[in-house]
Amino acid sequence: MQDLLSALVAKAEAELPTLAARPEFEAAKARYVGPNGELTALMKQMGAVPKDQRPAMGKLINEAKARLQAQLDAALARLEAAELAAQLGPAIDPSLPSPDPLPGTGHPLTLVREEMCRILRKVGFTVVEGPEVETEYYCFDALNTPADHPARDAQDTFYFPEAARFGNVAKKSAAEKYLLRTHTSSVQIRTMLKGEPPIRIVSPGRVYRRDTTDATHSANFHQLECLYVDKNVTVRDLKALLDYIFASLLGKDTKTRFRPHYFGYTEPSFEVDLSARHLPKVNKEWIEIGGCGMVDPTVFSAVGYDPEVWSGYAFGMGLERLAMLLYGIDDIRYFYQNDVRFLRQFA
Ligand code: DAH
Repeated sequence: MQDLLSALVAKAEAELPTLAARPEFEAAKARYVGPNGELTALMKQMGAVPKDQRPAMGKLINEAKARLQAQLDAALARLEAAELAAQLGPAIDPSLPSPDPLPGTGHPLTLVREEMCRILRKVGFTVVEGPEVETEYYCFDALNTPADHPARDAQDTFYFPEAARFGNVAKKSAAEKYLLRTHTSSVQIRTMLKGEPPIRIVSPGRVYRRDTTDATHSANFHQLECLYVDKNVTVRDLKALLDYIFASLLGKDTKTRFRPHYFGYTEPSFEVDLSARHLPKVNKEWIEIGGCGMVDPTVFSAVGYDPEVWSGYAFGMGLERLAMLLYGIDDIRYFYQNDVRFLRQFA
């Protein structure tokens, strides 16, 4: 009996590692340990074993059974691993270059924004960002835009319901409402409250207005804001900076002109027009590109800067306008439709 058991285990140990497929494995398993298998047949002979030898024999049978089971488990694991490998196919090398010939392109607004920031960094400006959800204080009050100013009208500005809470946007007073910023000028206030002059920042970002969408209007669009605060800053510095950035972006023959205007946060204030060789693309000689001026003393007082000591200029402009001019795009809606035929035209 002992010899028979040893022979059975030896046979299994030789055969099971050579099995190549699941059906062969199932057949072998039945042959060794199934109800009509060889081990079962040997166990049936236990009845003929003398009583005093039975415990020792039982132990031998159990050992043989355990070794057979270990062989079966190993064989099954090996077959399953082979099956999985077959399903996965040949190994791939993720470090090889992609066969996809279209790596994607930058969005035209991203390209213009990055180029403007690059141009401004060259002359010492730092890029900062502000929240799109704002409060009335940062968007209007601190910018000397009083409560009865038309820009604050619910027809022009998206206000949040009274119950809305934005834990990360601190209110100046409990009574003020949250809103979607109507311009990036709010970042001027946040920057000045946080730091000390001299200040030289550029802040690009998304802004929101209650406008009906058409070829030149969108309820959300993008602006680029600049603020410079130092001693003895003049309108000449402002004009020189605008000339520099537009010549850098659009070419040396680009001209800028100021038209007197009113903004609560600058005095004097101007609207800025551009004339560039790109203009025939949009069929105009001059186009308005933004607003600017010398920071109003009331704004300095609001942020705790002494207006007798500090002076500065600020300007804000529309990024869509710039991109439309630069690339000859005639409808603002193209920017937001994600049509790849449009997007692929920009490197
Ligand atoms: N905030 C103005 C707008 O959205 C643009 C602007 C005008 C920004 C004058 C300024 C400025 O910084 O000084 O139309």
